Amino acid sequence: MQIKEVAKQLNTTPRAIRFYEEKGLIKPAKLDNNEYRSFSEEDIARLSTILALREIGFSVSEISHVLNEEQRSISQYLNIQRSALYEKWLEMKDMIHTIDQMLDRTSDDYDNMQAIYQLATHLKNLKEIRRNWQDKWNFDSQAKDYDSSIKMHGYRFNVHQDYDKALTKVVETIQLEAGNTCLDIGIGTGNLGAKFLPKGINVIGIDQSENMLHVCKQKHPAIEIRKGHFLALPLMDQQVDGIVSSYALHHITDEEKILALQEMDRVLKAGGQICIADLMFINERQRKQVMKYFQDAGNKEAIYAIKDEYYADRSILIEWLKEHNYDVKAYPFNDILSMIYAQKTACGDKA
Ligand SMILES: C[S@@+](CC[C@H](N)C(=O)[O-])C[C@H]1O[C@@H](n2cnc3c(N)ncnc32)[C@H](O)[C@@H]1O
Repeated sequence: MQIKEVAKQLNTTPRAIRFYEEKGLIKPAKLDNNEYRSFSEEDIARLSTILALREIGFSVSEISHVLNEEQRSISQYLNIQRSALYEKWLEMKDMIHTIDQMLDRTSDDYDNMQAIYQLATHLKNLKEIRRNWQDKWNFDSQAKDYDSSIKMHGYRFNVHQDYDKALTKVVETIQLEAGNTCLDIGIGTGNLGAKFLPKGINVIGIDQSENMLHVCKQKHPAIEIRKGHFLALPLMDQQVDGIVSSYALHHITDEEKILALQEMDRVLKAGGQICIADLMFINERQRKQVMKYFQDAGNKEAIYAIKDEYYADRSILIEWLKEHNYDVKAYPFNDILSMIYAQKTACGDKA
């Protein structure tokens, strides 16, 4: 397709398209005999992503970062767009909520000015938390070999001890019916989410890693995959009946975990259930005991592995859930692995 036709199809101008070409965001082929550009389907998909990202306020360098010069399919581009739009939408919601709170305090006295300042600071922190998470473990590079790398018996420290048991327990515990929608956050290659498919449950898998999602889709075509992360779930409010997650939550910090719980609460229907199996300690005291045990045993591998990630303090997660009207149960598998099962009371009031 030529530039004029592309511009018409995407409701933009040839000038704008040339600008993105100059910036290196698209590289349409030039026809041999003249300087006319020829846009392939992939160029057009890429361009529509660029335009959508510009529309929601991304700078050219941010777009370049998002697209990262990699070859992607049309659905991957759309997945990126959806994830970015949800992030913006949540940011807008936070801003509106902050403005509402500020308006409640609009008198000129000093205390109120202080309160408004604190609200603005809180909003700024929230934005930073959402934007700053980075995958320091490079899950994209682990995707292909992830399943075969799950070692059931480690030499001195095995994070995947009780992996199968934990996934099975989650499926047995959460009560979902055929036709319900279950969200698996940090779905990876789909090992947990897929267990719900034979029951006729619709599974949506969210992951920040495109390669993990790709492997998941290849293994389990019936799972709907969505690019996104714990801190900005790409779903509308109260959209799902159940949320599960295994071995993913320990990749976000304690502060981020609270925001992740808020996000889960936002997308979960009244009466919905959350079931998380992850690396966590019962509380701070047990964390210290376990670390001392490994220290005394000279188990450097264990100490390094634990410090490299963010094992939760289970008691903090349970406290937050209880405070937000969930009935909560916890189930330990071993010293570092637990399951939390929480049901949201139907009308938000505790029974
Ligand atoms: C250890 S794997 C676990 C995968 C799968 N749930 C399982 O039990 O086998 C962790 C997964 O969580 C994903 N993940 C880590 N941090 C995330 C975040 N902030 N938001 C969404 N996914 C995340 C990773 O990309 C990876 O696919």
